[in-house]
Amino acid sequence: MQIILVGADSTEQRLDAVEGWRVMEIIRDHGFPIIAECGGACACGTCQVEVDLEWTAKLHEPREDELDMLDQNYANEWSRLSCQLIFTPEMNGLRLRIAPVALAVAA
Ligand code: FES
Repeated sequence: MQIILVGADSTEQRLDAVEGWRVMEIIRDHGFPIIAECGGACACGTCQVEVDLEWTAKLHEPREDELDMLDQNYANEWSRLSCQLIFTPEMNGLRLRIAPVALAVAA
């Protein structure tokens, strides 16, 4: 099972994914720059990703605390906090990119 991480130059990286892991952990453990400052507590917004449009409706709805954090971090309709996305087999092939705001924090 994999997720597909799209870079700023549109190149795609296929990352092996493990059921039960946070998408944030999958990205971070493959060495990509995602800060995830709060460690997944939904309290920092530095793990923000933008999910491909085709995937937005397939993911569970964000909880209120995720929505609040996204509102504070320049989110758009494709934005999610990757720490709040727990990988399941149904998410195999999930395509996303690290949000520009999160990349800026990591730079
Ligand atoms: S790691 Fe802090 S909100 Fe996701």
